[in-house]
Amino acid sequence: MPVITSIEDLRRLYERRVPRMFYDYCETGSWTEQTFRENSSDFADIRLRQRVAVDMEGRSTASRMIGQQVAMPVALAPVGLTGMNTADGEIKAARAAERFGVPFTLSTMSICSIEDVAAHTEKPFWFQLYVMRDQEFVENILDRARNAGCSALVLTLDLQILGQRHKDLKNGLSAPPKLTLPTMVNLATKWRWGAGMLGTKRRFFGNIVGHARGVTDASSLMTWTAEQFDPRLDWDKVRKLKDMWGGKLILKGILDAEDARRAADVGADAIVVSNHGGRQLDGAISAIRALPGIVRAVGDRVEVHFDSGIRSGQDVLKAIALGAKGTYIGRSYIYGLGAMGEAGVTRALEVIHKELDTTMALCGRKSIAGLDRDILLVPQDFE
Ligand code: FNR
Repeated sequence: MPVITSIEDLRRLYERRVPRMFYDYCETGSWTEQTFRENSSDFADIRLRQRVAVDMEGRSTASRMIGQQVAMPVALAPVGLTGMNTADGEIKAARAAERFGVPFTLSTMSICSIEDVAAHTEKPFWFQLYVMRDQEFVENILDRARNAGCSALVLTLDLQILGQRHKDLKNGLSAPPKLTLPTMVNLATKWRWGAGMLGTKRRFFGNIVGHARGVTDASSLMTWTAEQFDPRLDWDKVRKLKDMWGGKLILKGILDAEDARRAADVGADAIVVSNHGGRQLDGAISAIRALPGIVRAVGDRVEVHFDSGIRSGQDVLKAIALGAKGTYIGRSYIYGLGAMGEAGVTRALEVIHKELDTTMALCGRKSIAGLDRDILLVPQDFE
């Protein structure tokens, strides 16, 4: 077992172990990847204030997200095709999150279905919805999430039109993988991944197969999915979906203070400041740069969460100190999952927890509630 001390260690191992097309699907941003890169580099531009001789005994990273107790304010973000990184990937990630005491969010575009994940976990997880044109499908999937006991709906607003990722087009990304000569050669070298996949009992796109009209095989499924993202989604529909769901609602993909105000008007329980990990609007500002302005605009009306670019506990600390009440990690846990399965997700969470705990202490803070802007040196041109 390799010694893993950072998320970067997991990324390197992940790159070695999963087929190229899935590594690329995860690691890529849209178009020039400017926003994808700046999600990380803008974090690095924020510096921390070191404080000394503060009693650090009995400190804790425990906190709450939408009223739910969490071991640290870090949830697992919804990630499509998670189950292509390792067999039953969504179940493994959900179990690791559950044991660690942080929320897991299941994507609409998962391999394992809502019911599969519910059957293999004990605590409620969160379900992420992409709004589809097929109203019956939307109603049906919300019923399924409710019946499975999902404790929050994460409604993603920033992907009704798909940003282009060059590598996915060039790789002919599909699930199951399209077998061209290069993909076959690549798959043949990933024996560990292949051996793991032989054990999968799940169907591809478990939330959709069998519930989408006219979908009978993998290729009609891909076509249905591509055509189904509803471009007519507006605030009126968001309001209707809120009523239809009736439970806790988190609106994900907010990058602008005006949109944040609209989201707060709808009565969401939380919003996620996010640019989808740099996968949608290339040229948009980094999420961490957008965060302070949004907290100023709506922080007293709605819980503000954050994702995009978190690769360490230090990054979590910076987002919380800028006013986020919770954060999500996407790639950071997928690296772990593809590298080492369930143990890899646990490792990713342990790494981030240790970094957060130690960094809090070195900044002279004992609790998540005590993290404030005072411990940061933020570049003047941040919003
Ligand atoms: C995503 N993201 C995403 N979001 C969502 O609402 N539904 C989804 O199905 C997906 N799928 C998806 C796949 C992959 C491979 C990635 C990397 C991301 C976005 C995700 O929830 C989150 O916003 C970002 O991953 C956050 O950025 P970091 O943490 O990856 O930098």
